[in-house]
Amino acid sequence: MNAVDIIIKKRDGVELTNDEIAFFIQGYTQGEIPDYQAAAWAMAILCKGMTDVETAALTRAMAQSGEMLSLEEVVNGIKVNQAVDKHSTGGVGDKTTLIVQPIVTSCGLAVAKMSGRGLGYSGGTIDKLESIPGMRLNLTKDEFLQQYLTYHTVLSGQSADLAPADGKMYALRDVTGTVPAMPLIASSIMSKKLAVGTHAILLDVKVGCGAFMENLEDATKLAKLMVAIGKNNGRFVKAELSDMNQPLGFAVGNILEVKEAVALLRGEPAAPDLREHCIESSAILLMMGQKADTKEQARIMVEDALNSGKAFESLKQLVSLQKGDISYLDNLEKFPKAPVIRVVSAPKTGWLSEINARIIGETSVDLGAGRIKKTDSIDHRVGIIVHHKVGDRITQGEPLFTIHAHSDDSCYNAEKKLSSAVQYSDTPCERLPQFYGLIE
Ligand code: URA
Repeated sequence: MNAVDIIIKKRDGVELTNDEIAFFIQGYTQGEIPDYQAAAWAMAILCKGMTDVETAALTRAMAQSGEMLSLEEVVNGIKVNQAVDKHSTGGVGDKTTLIVQPIVTSCGLAVAKMSGRGLGYSGGTIDKLESIPGMRLNLTKDEFLQQYLTYHTVLSGQSADLAPADGKMYALRDVTGTVPAMPLIASSIMSKKLAVGTHAILLDVKVGCGAFMENLEDATKLAKLMVAIGKNNGRFVKAELSDMNQPLGFAVGNILEVKEAVALLRGEPAAPDLREHCIESSAILLMMGQKADTKEQARIMVEDALNSGKAFESLKQLVSLQKGDISYLDNLEKFPKAPVIRVVSAPKTGWLSEINARIIGETSVDLGAGRIKKTDSIDHRVGIIVHHKVGDRITQGEPLFTIHAHSDDSCYNAEKKLSSAVQYSDTPCERLPQFYGLIE
């Protein structure tokens, strides 16, 4: 068996065996198969797809590339079914983990979460949290488990001993145009979930122009595929289908998003779509983790966690356990600001009929919030504030975007690109739905 034959087989659309998939993943994880062959393989998968059987084998191989935790065996005050997690397929302005994890942990659930960095034009929780000075997000398996056991909340990236294959594949996909392949998304997400061993998992499958699944049919297929992988591995998985045609909330970019999440947790005025998304997802998790019997009851618990400040305290606890400087959360002004901050005004009066999340995500990467090459470092300060939502009436001259850039040139380029992200209507237009359904 060799890597070239496996690449050729997939290139020609032939189904791979479990052994071939395991061989490739093991070889890549151990550094025996180089990046260029893994990139060719990922591209062949993107072009030719995988059967559900192949995707399940890929998920297993990736999960088994490191150690497999079994939180179900871990008791220490947490019932098996109170270990929950939520994971998004990736979007623009999606900072929900920073809000939902503290909400549900402050309501008595336990979360051991493995997140990723930015992927393509979508942001990543690890990059966002790295904006907080000192924050450690590369925990070893023992640190991860110890923190979870003691405090019931932990968040880390893939590591050398937990889902290392996903760590490598993820970074490679980010810069090789292979992100939107359904088998690669499903195996990436579900391998992390299987490696960590959480019992109840809520998947947030994004759909729209700023998501990797642009239509509802593909998003539903991906959701069902991941729910089935979870079920076949003894997990309790649900998948919500949520809109990603416009950015979620107002902020796009790492520090900007951390600030928006913290402001929401502190009870300050927040983007209604972001607040509602977080409340709904948290409520579903509270029901999955058997903390509430009805949605109404669950939503009341969530509102209470937000209004009482309990959820904010829980974020501070998570950050401080991982050596992040919580004084930044208490005083958001401490975060560094981009050298160039420019407000872009609406060129005309009308109703906003489109605020294209893809263009905004790509602009944010161009500004330096994401990577073009694997070795790129990101600029946590840069990004875009989108001041409006689809359906808003806007008057000429009103702020539409605020660009945070590292230079005048990059600000100018961003402004040019953003002008194509917005469409206007002379008549009122409907707001976008937030959710399209729940796959159980
Ligand atoms: N999140 C992941 O962890 N992996 C993907 O491929 C997409 C979103």
